[in-house]
Amino acid sequence: MAAPPTILVFDSGLGGLTVLREIVAARPDAHYVYVADDAFFPYGHHTEEEIIARVVPLVGELIRLHEPDLVTIACNTASTLVMAHLRAAYTVPFVGTVPAIKPACASSKTKRVSVLGTRGTVKREYTHGLIRDFAQGCEVTLVGSPELASLAEAALSGGTVSDADIAAEIAPCFVGTAHDAAARTDTVVLACTHYPLLLERLARLAPWPVDWIDPAPAIARRVVDLIGRPGDIFDGAGAEMIFTSGRPHELSRALTAFFGGRVPA
Ligand code: DGL
Repeated sequence: MAAPPTILVFDSGLGGLTVLREIVAARPDAHYVYVADDAFFPYGHHTEEEIIARVVPLVGELIRLHEPDLVTIACNTASTLVMAHLRAAYTVPFVGTVPAIKPACASSKTKRVSVLGTRGTVKREYTHGLIRDFAQGCEVTLVGSPELASLAEAALSGGTVSDADIAAEIAPCFVGTAHDAAARTDTVVLACTHYPLLLERLARLAPWPVDWIDPAPAIARRVVDLIGRPGDIFDGAGAEMIFTSGRPHELSRALTAFFGGRVPA
């Protein structure tokens, strides 16, 4: 019988955990290696050249060390740049995470959609191409948030993050007026994997209700398309969590839910 596959999930920090938890739900049998490149966080503050030069060799080194059956780049800021480079350099299958503009525009009733991402992601030619190809008549507002990923990271690490700071980051997403429900933004694409970590607070602090589009379930479906449905043998080795900074952390128990109940070592 086939051994469970190893799936490596990569992000600049803790945001990729929102993608990991959906993949774990779809493939609970797999062995997981989660890598947070916290030594280089936040990716949103780096140039395109810096991100390519950082991520492509680092992922190559991780493939060499962990021999994964599949790698998920659970980061929009990186995926909108590096997927073609990774596929050209390494033979393992990759799944990227890019802004869910197509489904958001397909479901918006008011035809006003906002894309909330890092400043890097909203500047990318890749993102602009998605809007050209898939806006489907919607007015798409790009919102490059300078600090929301860091605020999410701080909140998950147990820090205090004020409502005012979060509200200021999301305010530009809301186009139109609260009293004109037919002509205001009704859909916001969460184009950074850190943002679903704050979903309850985003919904509470929004000036009016919107649909928040999280691509993680679609990414998990893509993983299953590529490596198949769960087998009968479950991983007994425990999940691995790697911080590239090598900094000691106390997060293992807090992160257990993202790993489907396993305590990552
Ligand atoms: N989680 C990353 C993303 O999906 C970005 C956070 C960062 O700026 O490093 O874009």
